[in-house]
Amino acid sequence: MIMKKITLSLALCGFLFVGCTNEATVSKDSVTEQKANFVAAEEIGLRKQSVKDEKIVETKGVPYSVDAPGTSKKIERSFDNAPPMIPHDTEGMLPITKDSNQCTGCHMPVVAKDMGATPIPKSHFTNLRKEMGEKGRDLGEELYQGRFNCSQCHAPQAKLDPLVKNNFKPDFKNPNAKFQSNLIDSINEGVK
Ligand code: HEC
Ligand code: HEC
Repeated sequence: MIMKKITLSLALCGFLFVGCTNEATVSKDSVTEQKANFVAAEEIGLRKQSVKDEKIVETKGVPYSVDAPGTSKKIERSFDNAPPMIPHDTEGMLPITKDSNQCTGCHMPVVAKDMGATPIPKSHFTNLRKEMGEKGRDLGEELYQGRFNCSQCHAPQAKLDPLVKNNFKPDFKNPNAKFQSNLIDSINEGVK
């Protein structure tokens, strides 16, 4: 039994050793072949510039919406309960800081109707980290702090010709979902 084990280990060692030497001695032919299949740094990305060159990484001249809030056209949601994208100008509003959040000035439910803005939904006044029904989950009129930084999820949009076409087509459960969310009512769908 012991002998068998020793022979087996010896055989294994031998096998590994052969494996190693094989790797170490890559034939000249395969190096030439690899070079022929080599992709140049300029060909890797869509911007056709060396991936090592960071100079033109920054996107300049992107035509974001300049329509003032109240004059822009809402954008169809990407899918059921997707965060709506910002259709209006955000000049002077970003970045949101601890002391300055203009978004809430128009979108808090108490003022939104008068401003003609979509009110921040119930889901943003809920602490989803707590169990359903647990005290403290429903925050009433207090915005959950995890939702304070609006632009983390809601982004301004620009009209551009995408380099890669997106063929995704959403299937809305009902036509209203294209311009409205109902996450707080449907979040437990399918959960017993
Ligand atoms: C001066 C008021 C005002 C401010 C400030 C404002 N918004 Fe708006 N927002 C509106 C109005 C009004 C609309 C509806 C579209 C329109 O009429 O232009 C809107 C639309 C939106 C929508 C689309 C809602 C939907 O139903 O599709 C999102 C998302 C949004 N705003 C997010 C933000 C964020 C994030 C900020 C802060 C960076 C912000 N807004 C600041 C007034 C405002
Ligand atoms: C962590 C991501 C996240 C953050 C942060 C966030 N939202 Fe949302 N928001 C969403 C998602 C996802 C939805 C759609 C599902 C839902 O209603 O919860 C949404 C929906 C909305 C809607 C549409 C409501 C409706 O009835 O259709 C508005 C308006 C909105 N958010 C405004 C805001 C504002 C203003 C802030 C900042 C104070 C903010 N959100 C912060 C993810 C976020």
